[in-house]
Amino acid sequence: MTKIESSASNSLPAITTPAIPNQSKTSVIASVRDLVKTYRKPGASVAVHAIRSVSIDFIEGQSVAICGASGSGKSTMLNILGCLDRPTQGEYFLSGTDVSEFDDDGLSQIRGERIGFVFQSFNLIQQLTVLENLEVPLFYQGVSPSERKEQAEKLIERVGLADRADHRPMELSGGQQQRAAIARALINNPVIILADEPTGNLDTTTGDMILEIFDELRAEGRTVIMVTHEPDVAERCDRIITMRDGKVIEDIRS
Ligand SMILES: Nc1ncnc2c1ncn2[C@@H]1O[C@H](COP(=O)(O)OP(=O)(O)OP(=O)(O)O)[C@@H](O)[C@H]1O
Ligand SMILES: [Mg+2]
Repeated sequence: MTKIESSASNSLPAITTPAIPNQSKTSVIASVRDLVKTYRKPGASVAVHAIRSVSIDFIEGQSVAICGASGSGKSTMLNILGCLDRPTQGEYFLSGTDVSEFDDDGLSQIRGERIGFVFQSFNLIQQLTVLENLEVPLFYQGVSPSERKEQAEKLIERVGLADRADHRPMELSGGQQQRAAIARALINNPVIILADEPTGNLDTTTGDMILEIFDELRAEGRTVIMVTHEPDVAERCDRIITMRDGKVIEDIRS
């Protein structure tokens, strides 16, 4: 029952859902339909059903927590949403385009244009400084050196790392590395920010600083989807989706 409409801010069309009470129009930024992900090792008789027929609409500008026990399929879901992996079956509409059958090049292009991914283990390039880590994606987009530096410095400043821009990741604390990873995720000005346990490796105070950055991103109208094991982190989000054994068992909106 979804209809495709063009959106003013994006070149790709956005999907809109029918009107719901108190909201004349809700823009669906990402939508999965009957999504299935099955892992099958060559030669192995048993398949792992990581996601079993999940359908979810993600609303533009909302923050969503994905919760559930270990092995319930949270990271698998996030990786598919982040165009890092493809579903075995089902559809994934990103800003109205079905990307579920895109090849690797197509996925990496759309990822570069629309998605910022924050990994639990930060995934910064150890040999490069914070500034250089942020410049890498811009380099691949053909952005000029002076422009790269300016954009990277702006984001480093924003996450409060200006005095650490020339340090390598191993010279930074966990919280500082996570802030650098968030800055890198923002470098392409993504519409969706995905984060897999962004506070999982951090103490509470440092975790709170990270969550404040996510709150700001949401306030800017970006869609934030994060996997978390922590109930108080989930409570800060507009919506909490709980998974079990590859299925959504609860979907609560505040
Ligand atoms: N590359 C893979 N090959 C085979 N099985 C996999 C692969 N990745 C994940 N799985 C399996 O898929 C299921 C879901 O894994 P997933 O990583 O999505 O869980 P999760 O909810 O993120 O768990 P955790 O909270 O421990 O991170 C698990 O049973 C896992 O063993
Ligand atoms: Mg996981």
